[in-house]
Amino acid sequence: MEQKTKIKKKSPARKIQETNDRLKAEIKYSRLIKTIAVASNETRAIEETLPFCIRQVCEFAGWPLGHMYLTAEHPSEGLIPTKFWYVEEPGQFDTFQKVTHETSLEAGVGLPGRVLVSGEPAWIIDVTKDPNFPRAKLARDIGVKAGFAFPILIGTKVVGVMEFFSPKAVEPDPQMLAIMAQIGTQLGRVLERKQAQDESEHSQDQLRKLYHRLEQVREEERTRTAREVHDHLGQVLTTIKLELSLLSNKLLDNNPAVKKSAKQLLEMSDDAIQTVKKISMDLRPPILDDLGIGEAIVWQTMEFTRRTGIQCKFEDDLGDFELDLERSITLFRIFQETLTNIVRHAKATEVCVTLYHNDGTVTLKVQDNGCGISSRQVSNVRSLGLLGMRERAMVWGGNVLIRGIPNGGTTVNINIQKG
Ligand SMILES: Nc1ncnc2c1ncn2[C@@H]1O[C@H](COP(=O)(O)OP(=O)(O)OP(=O)(O)O)[C@@H](O)[C@H]1O
Ligand SMILES: [Mg+2]
Repeated sequence: MEQKTKIKKKSPARKIQETNDRLKAEIKYSRLIKTIAVASNETRAIEETLPFCIRQVCEFAGWPLGHMYLTAEHPSEGLIPTKFWYVEEPGQFDTFQKVTHETSLEAGVGLPGRVLVSGEPAWIIDVTKDPNFPRAKLARDIGVKAGFAFPILIGTKVVGVMEFFSPKAVEPDPQMLAIMAQIGTQLGRVLERKQAQDESEHSQDQLRKLYHRLEQVREEERTRTAREVHDHLGQVLTTIKLELSLLSNKLLDNNPAVKKSAKQLLEMSDDAIQTVKKISMDLRPPILDDLGIGEAIVWQTMEFTRRTGIQCKFEDDLGDFELDLERSITLFRIFQETLTNIVRHAKATEVCVTLYHNDGTVTLKVQDNGCGISSRQVSNVRSLGLLGMRERAMVWGGNVLIRGIPNGGTTVNINIQKG
């Protein structure tokens, strides 16, 4: 009865003041949510977004310390402290930060552990008096009293917990906790995006490794076939040629038809020997294994000119530097792919090739004077030949830079990191 009379007596001015205060608080809350929403939707790195959001909450609540935990891969393993902190005055909470990094929390343990289990925000007025706050027991004075924490959610799954502390004991603020729950869902989207990005990077990495392995297997197969063809088939053909030649010498001159056949067979065996040599050279030039990348390029450019009529100059500026075999193979195969492209697309009459190195990189530059590749073709995801060239170079931390000038030719720079 007495209370009712009191409420009735509230002055209109006080009522207006209260409404004003409520409105002001709501505006403040909605500004915070908007700021966090904008930050969450920006494509900034997680290392920037999360500390920014922790800081926003700290400044909004007027609490000087904020931190974030991530849920371990198996939720039964609890929470893992992160490097994402906000400390108003650096050094102020060193003990608490140290203790935090030394304590991993199981589900249900400590303030964040409770939030992990409930999926709801939580508040402790004085952590030093709380029976379930292990960090308070690890140091004599951890410098914090009140704490609140809220879950970061992807759907209903708690993927992280943010915690905030004040050096004073503070009563719970239900409105603030409700707002923090909303923020937790927004930040969940940031982590979800990061997870998707990590997964995509991981599968890209796997694909790259698979591509590299396939290339290695192809290369091994080529080498093996080249040897078999060269050594075995080549030897058999040489023996046949020799025997034929002996047989032909024994034939009497009075049998011209047989002599003619023997001569034809000799020519055919010569031809077959040349073809075997060519096949084995094309599969894997032994020059590459025996004399290195420079000599292999000399041979390849000569072959190229012989086959296509396109002039090809080569300048080898490697000097004393010796490139290892694996890198040499990569460079050589990309070079072959570049020459194939020139024949097929460039309408060039001349090609200039330069091989050089500087501090950490070996570069093979191939310049033609043809029609010039367009930037659209360079960046086209369907240019699988170019993609293969880039993937090969990436295995050695390198890249392939391609530039064309309309009717002014194309330049391909193949860069590979030295070992
Ligand atoms: N030296 C060059 N001069 C002019 N255009 C070029 C040159 N090299 C490549 N191109 C253009 O870039 C495109 C993409 O080259 P890419 O090697 O990826 O594919 P491709 O040669 O057409 O087919 P493949 O997958 O068999 O290699 C070519 O179709 C061609 O139009
Ligand atoms: Mg091609």
